[in-house]
Amino acid sequence: MSSGKYDFDSRIDRSGTECEKWDDLKTHFGRADLLPFWVADMDFRSAPEITEALRERAEFGVFGYPTEQTEKYRAAVANWERRRHGWDVSPDEVGLMPGVVTGISVALCELTSPGDGVVIQPPVYPPFFSEITRNGRRVVENPLVETDEGYVMDLEHLRSVLTPDVKAILLCCPHNPVARVWKKEELQDLGRLCAERGVTVICDEIHQDLIYADAKHVPLSLAFPELEGRMVTLVAPSKTFNVAGLRASAWIARDREIYRRLHSAFDKFHLSGINIFGLVVLEAAYNRSEAWLDAVMEYLGENRDCVEKFLASRMPGVKLKHPEGTYIFWLDFRDYGLGQKELMNVLTNRARVAMNDGSLFGRMGEGFARLNIGCPRSQLEEGLGRLADAFGELRKGTVNL
Ligand SMILES: Cc1ncc(COP(=O)(O)O)c(C=O)c1O
Repeated sequence: MSSGKYDFDSRIDRSGTECEKWDDLKTHFGRADLLPFWVADMDFRSAPEITEALRERAEFGVFGYPTEQTEKYRAAVANWERRRHGWDVSPDEVGLMPGVVTGISVALCELTSPGDGVVIQPPVYPPFFSEITRNGRRVVENPLVETDEGYVMDLEHLRSVLTPDVKAILLCCPHNPVARVWKKEELQDLGRLCAERGVTVICDEIHQDLIYADAKHVPLSLAFPELEGRMVTLVAPSKTFNVAGLRASAWIARDREIYRRLHSAFDKFHLSGINIFGLVVLEAAYNRSEAWLDAVMEYLGENRDCVEKFLASRMPGVKLKHPEGTYIFWLDFRDYGLGQKELMNVLTNRARVAMNDGSLFGRMGEGFARLNIGCPRSQLEEGLGRLADAFGELRKGTVNL
């Protein structure tokens, strides 16, 4: 089934297109003949409005320095936040940057000091660990807690680790990889604690637009405005519109002093400008591509149903907490009793699917692997079939690990 005027069903061979997900399989998994369900981008063409804007700009043929008058692009970000999330941001509270991980790194350097503790909530996107340590700060873990309903933040534990040398929290909102879309009340409880303890919040909302019909994203700054004096929010059209290769992202700080400090920190490394195609994509995505996003979310919602039904009927040993957002799902293989190396061996060499190794998301990721469902349904079904075959053989004991 295609979603309206967009074709999400046709399979696209992306190999040989400077594409990490398809071209780097051998480097990461040791073999190239895998169906890719790893890197967080989607095997779909982006919105036609975006491609058209890029084509027009490419055909112009002159690619000199981009304008420094970025009001129009910052307004596109602000208007999107207002329209899509009801968050009343103004263009002069927005800054541009190439990538969200760039923003995490710059914000860590500017808003914390060397040696400071920074809280993250594993299992979590691996650069959350590496950017903190690479910048000479200290990782302080507040692991999520698994409940029957899904993963939740452990505020009691957080309270106990917030010693005076812990200065910031890096929040993943919605959360990669457990696909939670934090509720307003959960964000308010967290916000209250951070405000009370004087903790700065770096809020990564890159997945804010990838929300299923049964959930609602609330920007942290909107849920708990009292935090605005000590926080920055990082957003991007990259996941939303599948344009991560174009390196266009934005940060939002409502507090003038934080804005001024971050602006000069990005500027110091010449990171506050983005390339011409990034500017073009940001404007076309946020101003003219919302219908595509609605359609892709509908399609992804059907992919989610397909995964949930498949696991329940064909692989009840694999557990998945109902995903509320994102297209990257946290599959729990612990019932099979495999070590992490064995699990990855079965996935890669038996099922021949490329999935992210759960242990890269923190210690509690042992026994898990992350599945990217952002692909045509037939590709997803083929991958699920491969999983069922490989794990079926395993249960029958016909596989030598
Ligand atoms: C939570 C989170 N932040 C950041 C990124 C990547 O951001 P960027 O490519 O803009 O650096 C990802 C990519 O998967 C992500 O899941």
